[in-house]
Amino acid sequence: MSKKIFSGVQPTGNLHLGNYIGAIKNFVNLQNDNNNSCIYCVVDLHAITINQDPIQLKKNIRETAATFIASGLDYKKSIIFNQSLVPAHSEASWILSCVARMGWLNRMTQFKEKAGKDKEKASVGLYVYPILMAADILLYDATHVPVGEDQKQHLELSRDIANKFNLDFKSPNFFVAPEPLIQKNFARIMSLKDGNKKMSKSDPSELSRINLTDSSDQISNKIKKAKTDTQTLPDNENGLSKRPEAENLLGIYSSLSDQPLTKTINEFSGKNFSDLKEKLANLVVEKISPISYETNKLLKDETFIDKILKDGADKANEIAYKKIINIKKIIGF
Ligand code: TYM
Repeated sequence: MSKKIFSGVQPTGNLHLGNYIGAIKNFVNLQNDNNNSCIYCVVDLHAITINQDPIQLKKNIRETAATFIASGLDYKKSIIFNQSLVPAHSEASWILSCVARMGWLNRMTQFKEKAGKDKEKASVGLYVYPILMAADILLYDATHVPVGEDQKQHLELSRDIANKFNLDFKSPNFFVAPEPLIQKNFARIMSLKDGNKKMSKSDPSELSRINLTDSSDQISNKIKKAKTDTQTLPDNENGLSKRPEAENLLGIYSSLSDQPLTKTINEFSGKNFSDLKEKLANLVVEKISPISYETNKLLKDETFIDKILKDGADKANEIAYKKIINIKKIIGF
């Protein structure tokens, strides 16, 4: 079956191994299946839900786009653009905020985590952020959305919004309720310092994550210092329960070597963490260094990156504009 794929990444700097394994690597696989049509968006409107330095934001938009391309996305096969160049995202977001319910947003765990204790001081944008995400997806009639585990709840909200709009305006099937594509064993890459915490760009500890711009030495050093437990590595998947650090490191190894977790478990069964760490460090360097090298090379030509984003936005605009015209017709404008 042919799939219409849409996904996005925020240009907030520090793209890390979690973003790569949980999302970008999968974007490339989906693109390379010729049955799919893919749209990948640098979601800059999402990024300003927290304070951004304008000069740094511009750099981060280009860096995210360059990382997409360096990881294997092909702007001739996929549409690659940044969100703020396509006005329909903001327009649809407003209309859909009149469809979504407060109760739905109040359940969003990511808002609670990001706003923390001081939620009175969080921006309104951070609160309504999942509605903008629904707009992103629904404008393109995306059938499938590749994301990491942390976005699952937002995807469910997108489906609820699509279904409610279709029902309220008696327009069955107008919006497509999108399916999340969440990889089984690699959807939640954890912090290297705490196997119970997600690897995240906002973690104050640099040692907790591998950035896609890290040098080989930095990568090796971070893996060497990664938290472990005192046992040897297990001989089956059940042996990973209550051993989050072992599960995480073996998961990263499996994803980057494109082999099932069971095969990785067999490879390291009965061995020490030090054996796994040595091989893992080599593998991460082998996979990540070319991406960081290529990203830096691409960033030397800003005009080239800007042109890719602009051309992608022209194509996205064509699709999104038609959809927003129909949305307006349906609601009576
Ligand atoms: P963002 O920018 O936080 O993250 C980009 C993608 O990386 C995944 N991810 C992870 N996957 C596995 N392990 C981790 N530790 C990890 N950390 C991040 C995220 O799940 C995501 O897939 N709201 C979205 C961006 C967005 C979007 C969209 C996505 C905006 N509009 C429409 C899909 C469709 C976000 O903040 O992702």
